[in-house]
Amino acid sequence: MAIKDSLYTSIASSLAKDGYIVLTNFLPSQIMQQLYDHVIALPNESFHQARVGSKNNLQLNNKVRNDKSLWLCKKHPIEKNYLAIMEECRIQLNKRLFLGIQHFEAHFSYYKTGSFYQRHIDSFQGQSHRIVSSVFYLNPDWSDDNGGELILYEPDSDNILCTIRPHFGTMVLFLSEEFPHEVLPTKYDRYSIAGWFHTDNITD
Ligand code: OGA
Ligand code: MN
Repeated sequence: MAIKDSLYTSIASSLAKDGYIVLTNFLPSQIMQQLYDHVIALPNESFHQARVGSKNNLQLNNKVRNDKSLWLCKKHPIEKNYLAIMEECRIQLNKRLFLGIQHFEAHFSYYKTGSFYQRHIDSFQGQSHRIVSSVFYLNPDWSDDNGGELILYEPDSDNILCTIRPHFGTMVLFLSEEFPHEVLPTKYDRYSIAGWFHTDNITD
């Protein structure tokens, strides 16, 4: 097993207690390196301009966000590794928290220099099937003054709960309906994998 049982236990207890967790030791380094080598080699055209809104009302709105994304697919061996680890995570979280999560999906995000994603919530109560959000960062040698921080706000508040720098190997997990968050403008190209644990197989 790629991830230790004790790590799942601490993820589950933090999600239950605080609703979020930031980890710096989630994935084995070989898998991180493969994901990084893969994502930076992807041609620019394979990414699509990310959209905002729900499944039936997706819109391009580059005032809200201007990152680009590419969905991970089981057919690609390196992407499959990541999806398999998150599938194990899904099973482990269900065992410990009874969240009834049935599915995980994820896309690579590419924030070109100057890109951002304004404050938003990943899932509105009753409207979406997203239960837990995850973001995994793939930026080696990221400096503190590079921008591109993920800001998590306290629920229904302007108070900052946590500022997360997109360092290589950092993983953040949070309850999708609880935490407004935003990505500050990045001064350098910034790569991540954003993923969601769903209650059912519907993609929203
Ligand atoms: C998202 C998101 C955060 C990040 O894609 O919904 O909030 O740090 N991403 O990339
Ligand atoms: Mn988000």
